[in-house]
Amino acid sequence: MLGLGRGGKGDIYRLTTGAESTGNQAMFRSWVYDSLILRLTARWYAEVLKRLPAGAVLLDVGIGTAGALAANAETVRCKGVRITGIDIDADYIVRARRRLEETALGAHAEVRLESVYDHRAGPYDAVYFSASFMLLPEPERALRHCTALLSPGGRIFFTQTIQQRPSRGMEWFKPMLKRLTSIDFGRVTYEDAFKAQLDAAGLSLEELTVLSRHGNRASCLAVARPRS
Ligand SMILES: C[S@@+](CC[C@H](N)C(=O)[O-])C[C@H]1O[C@@H](n2cnc3c(N)ncnc32)[C@H](O)[C@@H]1O
Repeated sequence: MLGLGRGGKGDIYRLTTGAESTGNQAMFRSWVYDSLILRLTARWYAEVLKRLPAGAVLLDVGIGTAGALAANAETVRCKGVRITGIDIDADYIVRARRRLEETALGAHAEVRLESVYDHRAGPYDAVYFSASFMLLPEPERALRHCTALLSPGGRIFFTQTIQQRPSRGMEWFKPMLKRLTSIDFGRVTYEDAFKAQLDAAGLSLEELTVLSRHGNRASCLAVARPRS
Protein backbone atom coordinates (compact mmCIF):
# COMPACT_ATOMS: atom_id res chain seq x y z
CA MET A 1 0.00 0.00 0.00
CA LEU A 2 1.12 3.54 -0.53
CA GLY A 3 1.76 5.05 2.84
CA LEU A 4 3.33 7.92 4.66
CA GLY A 5 7.01 7.84 5.42
CA ARG A 6 7.27 8.59 9.10
CA GLY A 7 11.02 8.39 9.59
CA GLY A 8 12.40 11.87 10.27
CA LYS A 9 10.55 15.16 10.63
CA GLY A 10 10.98 16.01 6.95
CA ASP A 11 9.59 12.61 6.07
CA ILE A 12 6.26 13.01 7.75
CA TYR A 13 4.18 13.90 4.72
CA ARG A 14 6.03 11.97 2.02
CA LEU A 15 3.99 9.41 0.16
CA THR A 16 6.01 6.26 -0.09
CA THR A 17 5.57 3.05 -2.02
CA GLY A 18 5.81 0.40 0.67
CA ALA A 19 4.10 -2.99 0.62
CA GLU A 20 1.01 -2.77 -1.59
CA SER A 21 -2.41 -3.49 -0.08
CA THR A 22 -3.87 -6.49 -1.78
CA GLY A 23 -7.18 -5.83 -3.55
CA ASN A 24 -9.02 -7.57 -0.70
CA GLN A 25 -7.24 -5.61 2.02
CA ALA A 26 -7.92 -2.34 0.25
CA MET A 27 -11.60 -3.24 -0.19
CA PHE A 28 -11.83 -4.27 3.46
CA ARG A 29 -10.25 -1.03 4.70
CA SER A 30 -12.59 1.05 2.56
CA TRP A 31 -15.58 -1.02 3.71
CA VAL A 32 -14.66 -0.54 7.40
CA TYR A 33 -14.25 3.15 6.82
CA ASP A 34 -17.57 3.51 5.00
CA SER A 35 -19.43 1.45 7.61
CA LEU A 36 -18.13 3.38 10.61
CA ILE A 37 -17.83 6.95 9.38
CA LEU A 38 -20.16 7.74 6.55
CA ARG A 39 -23.51 8.13 8.25
CA LEU A 40 -22.10 10.86 10.45
CA THR A 41 -19.88 12.67 7.98
CA ALA A 42 -22.50 12.66 5.18
CA ARG A 43 -24.55 14.94 7.45
CA TRP A 44 -21.50 17.10 8.09
CA TYR A 45 -20.90 17.54 4.35
CA ALA A 46 -24.56 18.48 3.90
CA GLU A 47 -24.16 21.30 6.46
CA VAL A 48 -21.06 22.66 4.76
CA LEU A 49 -22.47 22.41 1.24
CA LYS A 50 -25.54 24.33 2.44
CA ARG A 51 -23.28 27.23 3.44
CA LEU A 52 -21.32 27.40 0.16
CA PRO A 53 -22.31 29.85 -2.57
CA ALA A 54 -23.44 28.42 -5.91
CA GLY A 55 -20.53 27.60 -8.19
CA ALA A 56 -18.02 27.51 -5.31
CA VAL A 57 -14.62 25.96 -5.89
CA LEU A 58 -13.78 23.69 -2.96
CA LEU A 59 -10.67 21.89 -1.73
CA ASP A 60 -11.63 18.83 0.34
CA VAL A 61 -8.63 17.95 2.50
CA GLY A 62 -8.75 14.25 3.40
CA ILE A 63 -11.66 13.26 1.15
CA GLY A 64 -11.35 9.62 2.21
CA THR A 65 -13.42 7.27 0.05
CA ALA A 66 -15.57 10.23 -1.14
CA GLY A 67 -18.61 8.51 0.35
CA ALA A 68 -19.75 11.55 2.31
CA LEU A 69 -19.44 13.71 -0.79
CA ALA A 70 -21.27 11.15 -2.94
CA ALA A 71 -24.11 11.04 -0.40
CA ASN A 72 -24.63 14.73 -1.21
CA ALA A 73 -24.22 14.38 -4.97
CA GLU A 74 -27.56 15.99 -5.70
CA THR A 75 -26.63 19.16 -3.79
CA VAL A 76 -23.21 19.29 -5.45
CA ARG A 77 -24.84 19.09 -8.88
CA CYS A 78 -27.64 21.58 -8.11
CA LYS A 79 -25.23 24.15 -6.67
CA GLY A 80 -22.63 23.60 -9.37
CA VAL A 81 -19.86 23.15 -6.77
CA ARG A 82 -16.48 22.08 -8.15
CA ILE A 83 -14.34 19.97 -5.84
CA THR A 84 -10.74 18.88 -5.68
CA GLY A 85 -10.35 16.13 -3.10
CA ILE A 86 -6.96 15.11 -1.79
CA ASP A 87 -5.92 12.25 0.46
CA ILE A 88 -2.74 10.44 1.43
CA ASP A 89 -4.38 7.01 1.57
CA ALA A 90 -4.04 5.18 -1.74
CA ASP A 91 -6.77 2.63 -0.93
CA TYR A 92 -9.28 5.36 -0.20
CA ILE A 93 -8.36 7.26 -3.35
CA VAL A 94 -9.00 4.16 -5.49
CA ARG A 95 -12.43 3.80 -3.87
CA ALA A 96 -13.10 7.52 -4.22
CA ARG A 97 -12.35 7.50 -7.96
CA ARG A 98 -14.71 4.59 -8.49
CA ARG A 99 -17.38 6.28 -6.44
CA LEU A 100 -17.20 9.54 -8.39
CA GLU A 101 -17.74 7.55 -11.57
CA GLU A 102 -20.66 5.59 -10.07
CA THR A 103 -22.41 8.75 -8.91
CA ALA A 104 -21.65 10.66 -12.12
CA LEU A 105 -19.83 13.32 -10.12
CA GLY A 106 -16.84 13.20 -12.46
CA ALA A 107 -17.73 16.55 -14.01
CA HIS A 108 -17.78 18.17 -10.57
CA ALA A 109 -15.01 16.49 -8.64
CA GLU A 110 -11.52 15.08 -9.04
CA VAL A 111 -9.36 13.31 -6.49
CA ARG A 112 -5.61 13.25 -6.05
CA LEU A 113 -3.27 11.13 -3.96
CA GLU A 114 -1.54 14.01 -2.27
CA SER A 115 -0.84 15.48 1.15
CA VAL A 116 -2.29 18.86 2.04
CA TYR A 117 1.23 20.19 2.55
CA ASP A 118 2.13 19.40 -1.06
CA HIS A 119 -1.03 20.72 -2.68
CA ARG A 120 -0.32 23.63 -5.00
CA ALA A 121 -3.54 24.48 -6.87
CA GLY A 122 -6.38 26.92 -6.36
CA PRO A 123 -7.49 29.55 -5.73
CA TYR A 124 -10.39 28.10 -3.72
CA ASP A 125 -13.53 29.73 -2.38
CA ALA A 126 -13.46 27.22 0.44
CA VAL A 127 -11.14 24.67 1.99
CA TYR A 128 -12.84 21.90 3.97
CA PHE A 129 -11.39 19.64 6.67
CA SER A 130 -13.94 16.97 7.58
CA ALA A 131 -12.55 14.76 10.35
CA SER A 132 -9.08 15.32 8.94
CA PHE A 133 -7.73 18.38 10.76
CA MET A 134 -7.03 16.48 13.99
CA LEU A 135 -4.97 13.96 12.04
CA LEU A 136 -2.43 16.44 10.78
CA PRO A 137 1.00 16.47 12.43
CA GLU A 138 1.47 20.22 11.92
CA PRO A 139 -2.03 21.73 11.98
CA GLU A 140 -0.99 25.37 12.02
CA ARG A 141 1.29 24.90 9.03
CA ALA A 142 -1.60 23.23 7.18
CA LEU A 143 -3.83 26.21 8.00
CA ARG A 144 -1.29 28.76 6.81
CA HIS A 145 -0.73 26.75 3.64
CA CYS A 146 -4.47 26.50 2.93
CA THR A 147 -5.07 30.16 3.72
CA ALA A 148 -2.63 31.00 0.93
CA LEU A 149 -4.75 28.89 -1.46
CA LEU A 150 -7.95 30.86 -0.76
CA SER A 151 -9.42 33.40 -3.13
CA PRO A 152 -10.34 36.80 -1.61
CA GLY A 153 -13.32 36.29 0.71
CA GLY A 154 -12.61 32.57 0.95
CA ARG A 155 -13.36 30.51 4.06
CA ILE A 156 -11.98 27.44 5.81
CA PHE A 157 -14.58 24.94 7.05
CA PHE A 158 -14.11 22.25 9.69
CA THR A 159 -16.41 19.48 10.84
CA GLN A 160 -15.20 17.23 13.61
CA THR A 161 -15.85 16.12 17.15
CA ILE A 162 -14.72 18.42 19.93
CA GLN A 163 -14.26 17.07 23.42
CA GLN A 164 -16.17 19.28 25.83
CA ARG A 165 -14.34 18.23 29.00
CA PRO A 166 -10.82 16.80 29.47
CA SER A 167 -10.88 13.05 28.97
CA ARG A 168 -7.74 10.98 29.50
CA GLY A 169 -9.83 7.94 28.59
CA MET A 170 -10.61 9.30 25.14
CA GLU A 171 -6.98 10.37 24.66
CA TRP A 172 -6.03 6.73 25.29
CA PHE A 173 -8.93 5.24 23.35
CA LYS A 174 -8.44 7.05 20.02
CA PRO A 175 -5.08 5.44 19.18
CA MET A 176 -6.60 2.07 20.19
CA LEU A 177 -9.42 2.61 17.70
CA LYS A 178 -6.89 2.89 14.90
CA ARG A 179 -5.45 -0.51 15.79
CA LEU A 180 -8.92 -2.04 15.83
CA THR A 181 -10.38 -0.43 12.73
CA SER A 182 -7.41 0.74 10.58
CA ILE A 183 -8.96 4.22 10.67
CA ASP A 184 -6.87 7.02 12.12
CA PHE A 185 -9.13 9.15 14.33
CA GLY A 186 -6.29 11.52 15.19
CA ARG A 187 -5.92 13.44 18.43
CA VAL A 188 -8.67 14.43 20.84
CA THR A 189 -9.58 18.04 20.09
CA TYR A 190 -10.42 20.52 22.84
CA GLU A 191 -12.17 23.77 21.98
CA ASP A 192 -9.57 26.11 23.49
CA ALA A 193 -6.69 24.39 21.73
CA PHE A 194 -8.58 24.46 18.43
CA LYS A 195 -9.30 28.19 18.76
CA ALA A 196 -5.66 28.85 19.64
CA GLN A 197 -4.53 27.00 16.48
CA LEU A 198 -6.81 29.15 14.33
CA ASP A 199 -5.56 32.29 16.01
CA ALA A 200 -1.89 31.32 15.62
CA ALA A 201 -2.49 30.75 11.90
CA GLY A 202 -4.00 34.23 11.46
CA LEU A 203 -7.62 33.07 11.20
CA SER A 204 -10.75 34.46 12.86
CA LEU A 205 -13.50 32.11 13.93
CA GLU A 206 -16.73 33.17 12.26
CA GLU A 207 -19.03 30.34 13.29
CA LEU A 208 -18.85 27.46 15.76
CA THR A 209 -22.03 25.40 15.73
CA VAL A 210 -22.77 22.21 17.66
CA LEU A 211 -24.48 19.83 15.23
CA SER A 212 -25.05 17.03 17.73
CA ARG A 213 -23.89 15.88 21.15
CA HIS A 214 -22.66 12.48 22.25
CA GLY A 215 -21.97 12.61 25.99
CA ASN A 216 -18.93 14.81 26.56
CA ARG A 217 -18.23 15.09 22.83
CA ALA A 218 -19.93 17.33 20.32
CA SER A 219 -19.98 17.16 16.53
CA CYS A 220 -19.12 20.70 15.54
CA LEU A 221 -18.98 22.82 12.42
CA ALA A 222 -16.51 25.70 12.42
CA VAL A 223 -15.99 28.39 9.80
CA ALA A 224 -12.89 30.58 9.80
CA ARG A 225 -11.63 33.38 7.62
CA PRO A 226 -8.26 35.07 7.29
CA ARG A 227 -7.85 38.04 9.65
CA SER A 228 -7.28 41.44 8.03
C1 LIG B 1 -11.53 10.31 9.14
S1 LIG B 1 -11.13 10.51 7.45
C2 LIG B 1 -12.40 11.63 6.88
C3 LIG B 1 -12.80 11.42 5.45
C4 LIG B 1 -13.88 12.33 4.90
N1 LIG B 1 -13.43 13.70 4.88
C5 LIG B 1 -15.15 12.22 5.69
O1 LIG B 1 -15.42 13.11 6.52
O2 LIG B 1 -15.91 11.24 5.50
C6 LIG B 1 -9.70 11.56 7.42
C7 LIG B 1 -8.93 11.47 6.14
O3 LIG B 1 -7.84 12.42 6.16
C8 LIG B 1 -6.77 11.86 5.41
N2 LIG B 1 -5.50 12.57 5.70
C9 LIG B 1 -4.70 12.43 6.79
N3 LIG B 1 -3.61 13.20 6.67
C10 LIG B 1 -3.72 13.87 5.49
C11 LIG B 1 -2.89 14.81 4.80
N4 LIG B 1 -1.71 15.20 5.30
N5 LIG B 1 -3.31 15.30 3.61
C12 LIG B 1 -4.49 14.88 3.08
N6 LIG B 1 -5.30 13.98 3.68
C13 LIG B 1 -4.93 13.47 4.86
C14 LIG B 1 -6.79 10.38 5.85
O4 LIG B 1 -6.08 9.56 4.98
C15 LIG B 1 -8.28 10.10 5.89
O5 LIG B 1 -8.75 9.57 4.68
